[in-house]
Amino acid sequence: MKSLIEKLEKQHTLSKEEFASLVASNEANDFLFQRAVAVRQEHYGNNVYIRGLIELSNYCKNNCYYCGIRAGNTEVSRYRLLKDDILSCCEQGYQLGFRTFVLQGGEDIYYTDDIMTDIISAIRRQYPDCAITLSLGEHSYDTYKAYFDAGADRYLLRHETANFHHYSQLHPQSLSAENRQQCLYDLKRIGYQVGTGFMVGSPYQTPEYLAEDLLFIKQLQPQMVGIGPFIPHHQTPFAAFPQGSVDLTLRLLAILRLMLPTVLLPATTALGTLDPQGREKGILAGANVIMPNLSPVAVRKKYQIYDHKICTGDEAAECRFCLQKRIESIGCRIVVDRGDAKQYKEK
Ligand code: SAM
Ligand code: FES
Repeated sequence: MKSLIEKLEKQHTLSKEEFASLVASNEANDFLFQRAVAVRQEHYGNNVYIRGLIELSNYCKNNCYYCGIRAGNTEVSRYRLLKDDILSCCEQGYQLGFRTFVLQGGEDIYYTDDIMTDIISAIRRQYPDCAITLSLGEHSYDTYKAYFDAGADRYLLRHETANFHHYSQLHPQSLSAENRQQCLYDLKRIGYQVGTGFMVGSPYQTPEYLAEDLLFIKQLQPQMVGIGPFIPHHQTPFAAFPQGSVDLTLRLLAILRLMLPTVLLPATTALGTLDPQGREKGILAGANVIMPNLSPVAVRKKYQIYDHKICTGDEAAECRFCLQKRIESIGCRIVVDRGDAKQYKEK
């Protein structure tokens, strides 16, 4: 395993078979994490970037089998944040040192292009020194372009799984891997900094599928990659499937760091949900981003995409300082910075 890890660090890629065997093994973990941290430090030092996550709506027209806020879940109490709610989250976030706001939500048809571009341009006007990241699912090229022209810089859209058959096992027929991947290429063409990713341990996933995910990511060359363990939600068709593994998630974070040395890699809330030290362990496996919640406390419990999600009762300021302590406890520091990817030039 050690020689495969060295090869990955040198060549930044492996064959599908090599990736599958690296993923399936848990040998040489210490060596893998040590190399990943060395590469992170070479490019970013001990800096950890924070992104303020604003969960703007839990309405969604889709029915992904894994997701707690899927349209078919009639038990969810639905909410959406309006422009003024979102602007006050940004105001609070700015004071707490956030210089990136991430607007994430279900595919909520309330937000027409006019409504969404009005929100984006208001944030852009009031916070010219901040990055605006969107994570609003699949849209047309023209909609993505309108968001970009209004001032959005980055877009997160996990590809979920690169294998078309596996994609069809996780989603209803109305959704396709082809369209998801086309969206990612559209976003890149428009000029966004793009983030993609997948769940670790999603139902029916195999080491070969994970190898395909890694090769897809290598080809896409995104600036950000978000991965986190699958966690079942009790009101979804996947309620009875087992949760993903923390160890495998950490291994994949390290592999991604060696594959794309300057990538922005979050230690996700899902990782922190399955292990109280999960986010710290993520940073110690090569991650360099955390995304604390800036959503109003009144709506947090309603954005329950999986069971037992952490930090749903805390004020934004509590999360911010809790995370600062956690990050400092492992010898890193949170920086007040947009935190663009290294090779990226601002527009
Ligand atoms: N609607 C947008 C989209 O489709 O990209 C953004 C919101 S969606 C809830 C964000 C991500 O949450 C998905 O890309 C998926 O990978 C992750 N997710 C959904 N359900 C999950 C679960 N049960 N466990 C872990 N992650 C989950
Ligand atoms: Fe939210 Fe620790 S990050 S309470």
